[in-house]
Amino acid sequence: MLRDKTVLLGSGGGPLTWVAIDVLRTLQRAGARVGVVLSMETDAFVPALTFQTLAGEEVMAASDVYGAVRGGRFQTLAAVVREVDALVVVPATPALLTKMATACADETLARAFLLHQGPTLVAFPGQATEYRHVLVQRNIQQLRDAGVHIYDVGVPETAAAADVLEWSLAPTDIATALGNCLHQTAALADKVLIITAGPTQEPIDPVRHISNRSSGKTGYVLAAAAQRRGAQVILVSGPTHLDAPTGVQCLHVQTALEMRQAVLDHFDQADAVIKTAAVADFRPLRRAEDKVKKDAAEINIPLERNPDILAELGRQKGQRVLVGFAAETQALLQNAQQKVQSKNLDLIVVNDVSDPSIGFASDHNRVHLLEADGRVEELPTMTKTRMAEHILDRVQRLFEARDQG
Ligand code: CTP
Repeated sequence: MLRDKTVLLGSGGGPLTWVAIDVLRTLQRAGARVGVVLSMETDAFVPALTFQTLAGEEVMAASDVYGAVRGGRFQTLAAVVREVDALVVVPATPALLTKMATACADETLARAFLLHQGPTLVAFPGQATEYRHVLVQRNIQQLRDAGVHIYDVGVPETAAAADVLEWSLAPTDIATALGNCLHQTAALADKVLIITAGPTQEPIDPVRHISNRSSGKTGYVLAAAAQRRGAQVILVSGPTHLDAPTGVQCLHVQTALEMRQAVLDHFDQADAVIKTAAVADFRPLRRAEDKVKKDAAEINIPLERNPDILAELGRQKGQRVLVGFAAETQALLQNAQQKVQSKNLDLIVVNDVSDPSIGFASDHNRVHLLEADGRVEELPTMTKTRMAEHILDRVQRLFEARDQG
């Protein structure tokens, strides 16, 4: 999986720097071309010469923040990073994790991380005491949420394991994990995904509307995750406060009718549609031209049904994979199963919206995944980013099953 790939190895410092040397050799043996970026901490433990001996001219110093002279001419860091398929940082020290999580690009490795568009794997001894500090954990979570692959070997209970030197990570494990990241990155390469997100707003008059509490987070992290796996993503979004992920085509809509139109306009080219949007089921029968005044003691707003976009897609889905979301407060699985059938879905993600600690504006959620064949998986509470990866794994498997006929 690593043959002919270009990997940039960022070496941390500390008693575990020797692991970076081992990883360098392992990646080279696996057929990868490996460039090395030394960090400000590396040199105190392993001299640059050791890396240069193994990787020749491909070694960059921590101070080469904007580039270095290579082969007799100046090469910018951006140009170097452009050639890179994957970045692996090992050992990712607390200092490096902090710089990466806070975009503090004051050394070459931290800036290379910001410039790099492909997968990044960071490996560290998660059981060591300093990594268990709440602030380091917060940085690790930030990186995980940004789509960085985190590789640690868990937290053993033994007291001795609190020492970094107890780290038992094998370089071949890191190479395998990196190969998996690269495989995952290309997994949706030829696919077009439509993802809908956020609420819809149904205008009552020029200043008021009917809507719901959807933040759009799930759809946006799904769009970013699908894009990282190489998919062409069309994000059809109701009004949210979120920025569209880089590289994702975002179509902004307000109402359910506009969302329906935007989805149908692109449905022909889609391989899958993931409908996270909380579409308003009803809209005011009439939209007042002028602001409605408060003279009356009471007011009635007649509503009419919005089309069920997902059900409509289900009727014309062909070979496409269709994923729905269900927000339920009771009889979760029965209601969701019924929606899978009535909307002709392949997968539904079921949310218990009666639990205020998760869902809606939260960064976390706890969901069930229910497939058309009745298989159910209950996922534990996790960040929406991790949940997105689980959902995309399922979508990938559905594509594979479809391709195998
Ligand atoms: N959905 C849709 N168009 C609608 C309503 C819902 O495409 N007019 C989609 C949502 O994007 C979601 C799924 O249908 O993927 C389920 O939405 P949900 O509100 O949970 O269920 P409903 O089918 O609307 O049924 P109910 O509100 O009665 O539970």
